[in-house]
Amino acid sequence: MASLPDGVRHLPGFLSPQAQAALVADIRTVVEAAPLYVPAMPKTGKEMSVRMTNCGTLGWVTDKERGYRYQPTHPVTGAPWPPIPAALMAIWQEVADYPHPPEACLVNFYSASARMGLHQDRDETDLSAPVVSVSLGDDCLFRVGPPQRNAKTVSLRLQSGDVLVLGGDGRLAYHGVDRIYPDTSTLLRNSGRINLTLRRVTMP
Ligand code: SIN
Ligand code: MN
Repeated sequence: MASLPDGVRHLPGFLSPQAQAALVADIRTVVEAAPLYVPAMPKTGKEMSVRMTNCGTLGWVTDKERGYRYQPTHPVTGAPWPPIPAALMAIWQEVADYPHPPEACLVNFYSASARMGLHQDRDETDLSAPVVSVSLGDDCLFRVGPPQRNAKTVSLRLQSGDVLVLGGDGRLAYHGVDRIYPDTSTLLRNSGRINLTLRRVTMP
């Protein structure tokens, strides 16, 4: 495989099977309080194929009228987001190399046909903090390239328990999910993939 862009770190098998199962239980609790909903693209209102929710003091949301943003409440229920589970805070502390806690954890759920187009995470004010991403459940084909639009990308398979860090020169790396490999993991009761992305949003 070609090498990853500068600042992009892939930590395969970072979480043990037991840690993955515990994290899934934590996420079920989050989803009970903050149900998955269907996000829509800015302006066009086109629905995304990924279902989303968040935990943390802020959550990333998007809809037709108001576009990409962070807000402290769930867009459907209006309730504050539930807290980020302690196990995720611990992962951040281990890998982020950043002295303040994350404020947002985006929870993405991919069914077998879901995907996510190539994009940058750039709705945060503090770009000195990395984005830390955790994969659970089915494998996916992940694509990542440097921060320059149309630059060459590399593809890698992300598996359950992998952690990916976009930091430093890789903080604004383009990334996306080209496909899910259905039924490649037995972690989730039904198939699918969960991705958790931890972000610092505001300046400390
Ligand atoms: C994202 O960029 O929000 C998700 C990335 C992933 O699903 O691995
Ligand atoms: Mn992203």
